[in-house]
Amino acid sequence: MKVIIVKNYDEMSKEAAKIVSDQIEKNSKSVIGLATGGTPEGMYKELINKRLSWKDVTTFNLDEYVGIPKEHPLSYYTYMYENLFNHIDIKHENVFIPNGNGDINKNGKEYDELIQKHNGVDLQVLGIGENAHIAFNEPGSSFTAGTREVELTESTINANARYFASKDEVPKTAISMGIGTLMKAKKIILLASGTKKMFAIKDTIEGPITEKVPGSILQKHPDVTIIIDEDAAKALESRMHLACACEE
Ligand code: GLP
Repeated sequence: MKVIIVKNYDEMSKEAAKIVSDQIEKNSKSVIGLATGGTPEGMYKELINKRLSWKDVTTFNLDEYVGIPKEHPLSYYTYMYENLFNHIDIKHENVFIPNGNGDINKNGKEYDELIQKHNGVDLQVLGIGENAHIAFNEPGSSFTAGTREVELTESTINANARYFASKDEVPKTAISMGIGTLMKAKKIILLASGTKKMFAIKDTIEGPITEKVPGSILQKHPDVTIIIDEDAAKALESRMHLACACEE
């Protein structure tokens, strides 16, 4: 596990965008796994500004809410088009986002098969929840699960309520790539910013590997880079020994 500590959110976004753009420049046919949430928004802005060509790139998103139409203003489908796809030259047929309507577990199985058909994800971008969930794999999720329907915890519903008119409107379930699915990615980057994430980051990097802390499984992946700002690094005991790119 490589850990990069940077000064703030903007530096985190730049560092992450550089890794994604290097991957696309190295292989124009890359398969990139994408995340939603507040954390990667800055990275997407940086990527748009780089004006690189995505015309041969394929993307697979991590997750989607269940039961809201994909055109819903708060669906992850809408998020991805607004934050990235409307601003780059990606082909719509190369964009894959889990389908949160219909037979969810069937959709999940087909999604995993589709990823395999594309020879897997070359670079997966991840955020992390305050309870260390990755994608929508909440504490207790199996480390071997594939894409499937998952129940959201109270903590995640509360955290995501800021986007909805009220907490009651937050969907209670989602379709999410499983940890078994995302651990197959050849390379993973995980981004986190702010003190709200500091314990999730500490447990992910320094804690025991346990299903109670979904992020901790990343310790077992052969190629993970964690990019965090100083606030998200605050609880790390190993902070002093890590290279910090935070100088003025
Ligand atoms: C959501 C998403 C995750 C994301 C997490 C953190 O639940 N399903 O993929 O990493 O929230 O979101 P944020 O970046 O807004 O803190």
